[in-house]
Amino acid sequence: MRIFMDTANVDEIRRGAAMGVVDGVTTNPSLLAKEGVEYRDRVLEIAEVVDGPISAECISETADEIVEEARRIAAWHDQVVVKIPLTEEGLAAISRVSAEGIEVNTTLIFSANQALLAARAGATFVSPFVGRLNDAGHDGMEVVREIVQIFELFDIETEVLAASLRGQRDVTEAALAGSHVATLPPAVLFGMIKHPLTDQGIERFLADAKSYKPV
Ligand code: E4P
Repeated sequence: MRIFMDTANVDEIRRGAAMGVVDGVTTNPSLLAKEGVEYRDRVLEIAEVVDGPISAECISETADEIVEEARRIAAWHDQVVVKIPLTEEGLAAISRVSAEGIEVNTTLIFSANQALLAARAGATFVSPFVGRLNDAGHDGMEVVREIVQIFELFDIETEVLAASLRGQRDVTEAALAGSHVATLPPAVLFGMIKHPLTDQGIERFLADAKSYKPV
């Protein structure tokens, strides 16, 4: 499973990229709003740090406007994947821009049926929002499992990108569900490193290493 970072904060992305484990980045209008920078400028900065897909989101609502906006956003950089929400107008736009070769990450997916429609329209990625489904009392990871199963049954090339992940257990479960990608907030990514037994082990090895001369 590939790991993307779900943030528009370039310092966090740099920290993740330095570990060599970040395959891409997802952003959205809410993440950008926290940064107080121009969307295009920030995406170009991210492209200097990460060599992989960078999702940037459309905010238009009609198919014609989404198509125009998607073309503009896709022209920012060849790593850009355009995020388009799953609506009727969004699907019409996805099929048009995908036919032009623009890569699309269909966002705000909450059911396997929505994912199936996005895939039929030609999306490169579908993003089921696990945490928001859980918040609403559903089983978010079950939707990921269903989408993976359907895509496997029909050899659908669209990749499943587990999104809205809130904790480390979500990452393990997304991997076990067969999600192709998981996008992680920085706290979840850096939290994955930590284990108290690792810290204790290092402490003990360092203490024991004092009894001999290092090579
Ligand atoms: C990713 O593409 C989404 O923008 C993101 O994961 C949403 O997460 P949230 O539900 O925690 O805002």
